[in-house]
Order: sequence, then C-alpha cells, then structure tokens
Amino acid sequence: MTNDPLLSLRKVSKIFGNGHFGLKDIDLDIAAGEFVSLLGPSGCGKTTTLRVVAGFEAASAGQILLGGAEIGHLPPNRRPVNTVFQDYAVFPHMDVAENVAFGLSVRGTPRAEIRRKVGEALELVGLADKAKRPVSALSGGQRQRVALARAIVCEPQLLLLDEPLSALDASLREQMQIELKNLQARLGTTFVMVTHDQTEALSISDRIAVMQGGEIEQIASPAELYDRPATRFVAGFIGTMNLLPGKVSADGRLEVPGSSLPMPAEAHGFGAGSAVVLGLRPEDLELSTATAGIPIRVENVVFHGRSLRVIGRVSSGEEMILDVPRSAAADLPAAGASAALRLRAGAVPVVLPA
Ligand SMILES: Nc1ncnc2c1ncn2[C@@H]1O[C@H](COP(=O)(O)OP(=O)(O)O)[C@@H](O)[C@H]1O
Ligand SMILES: [Mg+2]
Repeated sequence: MTNDPLLSLRKVSKIFGNGHFGLKDIDLDIAAGEFVSLLGPSGCGKTTTLRVVAGFEAASAGQILLGGAEIGHLPPNRRPVNTVFQDYAVFPHMDVAENVAFGLSVRGTPRAEIRRKVGEALELVGLADKAKRPVSALSGGQRQRVALARAIVCEPQLLLLDEPLSALDASLREQMQIELKNLQARLGTTFVMVTHDQTEALSISDRIAVMQGGEIEQIASPAELYDRPATRFVAGFIGTMNLLPGKVSADGRLEVPGSSLPMPAEAHGFGAGSAVVLGLRPEDLELSTATAGIPIRVENVVFHGRSLRVIGRVSSGEEMILDVPRSAAADLPAAGASAALRLRAGAVPVVLPA
C-alpha cells in the first residue's frame, strides 16, 4: 500500500467477561476505497472485529485508528462508520424513504438536504420508484437494499457489513454480490464485509483477511490466497486443495507417498530433510499414462458439468481429487482401478511446513 491506510488495527485483542479470547493481536491496515472481506468459520472473530471497529464493543488492548486518529475511545455515534447487519434491521412501520432518512433526521439535517440525499441513495440502490412503499411490502432483497441505502446516505468514511447477504436465497445473493461490488466502486467508500462464504469473498473483495481462532491467518488478494496460501489452514479453507505429506530429499526433490516431484530448493525454500505439506489443486493434476507419478487407487468419478472429478486415495490414506476435461472421459480408470497422478505442465505445488 502506497498511501496511508484509512483504517488500522494495531495489536487489537478482545477478551470477553467470561475470559474467552475473541480476538488476539489483530493487525490490519485497510486503504481508502478498498473492499476487504473478513472470511472464516463460525466463531473465528469476524463479527467481534466489526463490533470493535464500530464501537459496539470495546477492545481489551490495542489501537484502532481511522485516518491516523485513534477512535477506540469514541462511542459508536461519534465514529464516521456505519454498519449493515445480516437481518437488515429496517423499521417495519416506516416507508422506504423514512427508513433511509432516519439517520439524517436524528442528526438534525435540514429537510431539503434529507430529501435530496435520500433520493440519491435510493437511486444508487435501484429503489427510486419504491420510496413511498411500506417496508413490509418489500422482498428480502429490496429490504437489504433499504438497509444499504440507510447506511450509505450518512456518507460514512467506512461501511461495515456483517453477513449482509446471508438471509437471501442463492440466486438473489449472487445478483446482490455484483450489485454490492458495483455500488462500492461507484461510491468509492471503503467497505469491510464479514462473510463465511468463500465464493462470495473471492468474487467481490479486493483483499480477504482469512481468520481462525481470533487471529488473522493471511490477508491477501483473492488470487494470491488461492495461488499462494500462507498456512495450511488457508490452503485447506480456500477452494479445493489436496494436501499431501512430503519430505525434501537430499537433492531437493519433494518426496510424496509413492513418488517424488522435482522442484528446485529455491522454489520451495525448504532444506534437505524438512517435513512439508504439499498443496495440489485438482485442476493442476492430470492422470499419467506412464506408471510414473503419484500412485492412487480410484474411488469415484463424479460428473461436474464441464469436467469430471476423479476422487482417489494415495497409499498413506490421503484423499486426492483431480478434475479432468469431459473429452478425456473415455480414458478414465474405473472405480477400484490403480492410476498415477502428475502435475500438469507449468503447475507449481504449494509447499508449506508440516
Ligand atoms: N459477548 C460475548 N461473550 C463471550 N463470548 C463471546 C461474546 N461474543 C462473541 N463471543 C465468542 O467469541 C468468538 C467470536 O465470535 P464472533 O466474532 O461472533 O464470531 P464470527 O462472527 O466469526 O462467527 C466466538 O467463540 C463467540 O462465541
Ligand atoms: Mg458473525
């Protein structure tokens, strides 16, 4: 990042009253205009991170800086931050425009200005023609747009979104993901979104912070996380990844069960004798016609539309998944047969410490 971050968390920890560590030493820098997702399994601390930034929860230690100024001591309404929650939290007895106007009214914004800003916000979320509708008459997707409009109308420097799309069904959700990304690009506002859905995070984020157990395991672009996961957890969490135990031989080759892969030591950085874990993507593997390769026993061949997924097992018991084009279907071994796997030309395995 070249310019100063908009939001910085410095060694932020949260210990709850019951002694539970919600967050451990979180360091996070987010640039102005970025769309960053916090991704991880349930209970890993995503919501707690947002609540600490919004001020609904006080950090137990560490600093929260916005535009370089400490905001950790400010109450939520004094932070230039808005939050959109999973359950929309719209006011059912108000119409759409009243819902969106609420935050501005509370601040005593002049009426004409409220009218103009509400109109603009509804335009942005595609609800300009629904201003006078009661919220109760709207669909789930429309209510979520009301919640978004209500948050952006206050022009926050930072918009926090906690699983904003998780109450929507799959097809609407996919459509709203694109809308959300486009809205963020048009506004130029910094978005920090919590999700447990990796597809959602991968498709709309500039960067993703993968969390586990109250810590950030890795923060990187979607492609970087996919191609170069930094930890075994990230490798196993993002996409489908075959994980194989391996060992670096004296001549730098990677020994895996039943075979070895040539890879220069400079490329993996581990010394001879190191125990490692290899990460191999299904699309980076192919069946070897020669007997050379990683021997597997084929367990299943599954139709996947554009490709066929072959599921097998190596001698040491790890499952191996590879995707082959449908055009190769005729040559595939049957379930129960032995086969050998090799890396496709140009594919590079991920090598992590065991
Ligand atoms: N008020 C609280 N008191 C005690 N533990 C809490 C409290 N809020 C959250 N936790 C715990 O902190 C961890 C992180 O919670 P949360 O941030 O809500 O997870 P996520 O949003 O990633 O699912 C969980 O183990 C949760 O049970
Ligand atoms: Mg949560």
